[in-house]
Amino acid sequence: MDRLCKASRTAQIVVVSRHEDFGFDPSSFGPGWELRRVQQMRDVERVVRASPPSAGVIDLQDEYSDAELGQLELALQHLHVTWVAITCDAMLADERVRRLIRDYCVDYVRTPFSVQELIYTLKHAHGMASLHGARPQETTASRGTMIGECAAMRAMFRSLAKVAHNEAPVFISGESGTGKELAAQAIHDASSRRKGPFIAINCGAIPSHLVQSELFGYEKGAFTGANQRKIGWIEQAQGGTLFLDEIGDLPLESQVALLRFLQQGTITRLGGHQSIPLNLRIISATHVDLVAAQGDGRFRSDLFHRLCVLTLSIPPLRERGEDILQLANAVLAEHGHEAHRRIRGFSACATQAMMQYAWPGNVRELINRVRRAIVMTDNRKITAEDLQLHGGAELPRKTLDAIREEAEREAIRNVMASHGFHVVPAARELNVSRVTLYRLMHKHNIRVESQPAAGE
Ligand SMILES: Nc1ncnc2c1ncn2[C@@H]1O[C@H](COP(=O)(O)OP(=O)(O)O)[C@@H](O)[C@H]1O
Ligand SMILES: [Mg+2]
Repeated sequence: MDRLCKASRTAQIVVVSRHEDFGFDPSSFGPGWELRRVQQMRDVERVVRASPPSAGVIDLQDEYSDAELGQLELALQHLHVTWVAITCDAMLADERVRRLIRDYCVDYVRTPFSVQELIYTLKHAHGMASLHGARPQETTASRGTMIGECAAMRAMFRSLAKVAHNEAPVFISGESGTGKELAAQAIHDASSRRKGPFIAINCGAIPSHLVQSELFGYEKGAFTGANQRKIGWIEQAQGGTLFLDEIGDLPLESQVALLRFLQQGTITRLGGHQSIPLNLRIISATHVDLVAAQGDGRFRSDLFHRLCVLTLSIPPLRERGEDILQLANAVLAEHGHEAHRRIRGFSACATQAMMQYAWPGNVRELINRVRRAIVMTDNRKITAEDLQLHGGAELPRKTLDAIREEAEREAIRNVMASHGFHVVPAARELNVSRVTLYRLMHKHNIRVESQPAAGE
């Protein structure tokens, strides 16, 4: 009869609705469908867990209180059900409702709708979800090795699952060290291309005169020194995913060539005549503010629009609350054996210092600090001092000058990090001239476009 009914003979549908008649005429569903209504938001999770349905309908045709919507969202976060919403124009004007649909439902129908339309949407949604093996709301499967339980990371994992099931280019934004590359890998692993290659290139690390030959490859004799054919990175990603890291550093000339490839879906090796069709998915990332870079003419707008069809934004570590401690413990569990004596966790002062610190270098900096503490500590528990995060209790006796110096350095580092290491806005926020900021950065050994290594 159809995929939805075939799988379990009867399609079990949970309908979250205040209305006894489900908000539509259930009798038009006909045989092969079994509809169960949940009236209270607080019961949704229990009912679904007791007997997982084939799909679900959320009736969002009338007003709900913040508390009810909160209860619903909490349940949806923990359930792996393909949801379709029923709603109306008036409710769609409410941002809370729009966000709920956007984040948790695969589709929605608007009143006035026919039951046939709802059935069609349910079948379609369920069919698409089962094609992917995992449902789009699945978060644990799509996060890869990424650690994170806070609301911001959970929302990111949900977006990640959604973009993974699409073919369009994804642009990942986030400060340095937040996990952009890890997220790109997780998208690939959760996508239909997971069996294909995942090729990551750091566009900022290739000398500008070599970018084109590295990306596109070349034929033998294309230039002096081209002794044999070389397959470029793009071609190597055939059938898989190409991750263009630090795309903001790609020279303008190479941007043109990349744009051509994105428009045509084919490449020509340098010195070659044959155009090679490609089948791959592009993910790009950078810590550079691409909007500003377009303004300055450093990044082409047409390329920007090609690359940023879907976007994923990774929150900075300082906004992830207790995830900081979870990550620190994960690093300790992985690298604890590198210590010269057994370490039994983190002291209270270390925990407090980690929670208060701004983490300009994000997860990368946290890993560096914890690893160094593991090797250097003489304590049973890692202290704030071992992490070189001097909380009040551990503050060593220092001269006032040294304290001032350190505060100045810390302030500059934090402000620079919050502006993506862009000097102009950072100088503005610190209320100093650009020249002064450069001088201070030099004095404190803070470099542009690189987060300071832990321990500097
Ligand atoms: N959520 C996370 N859970 C575990 N490890 C993480 C997480 N985010 C980042 N990392 C680790 O932090 C380091 C920096 O991540 P990376 O993806 O290279 O950051 P970016 O590309 O944003 O600079 C890597 O070692 C990565 O494995
Ligand atoms: Mg990176």
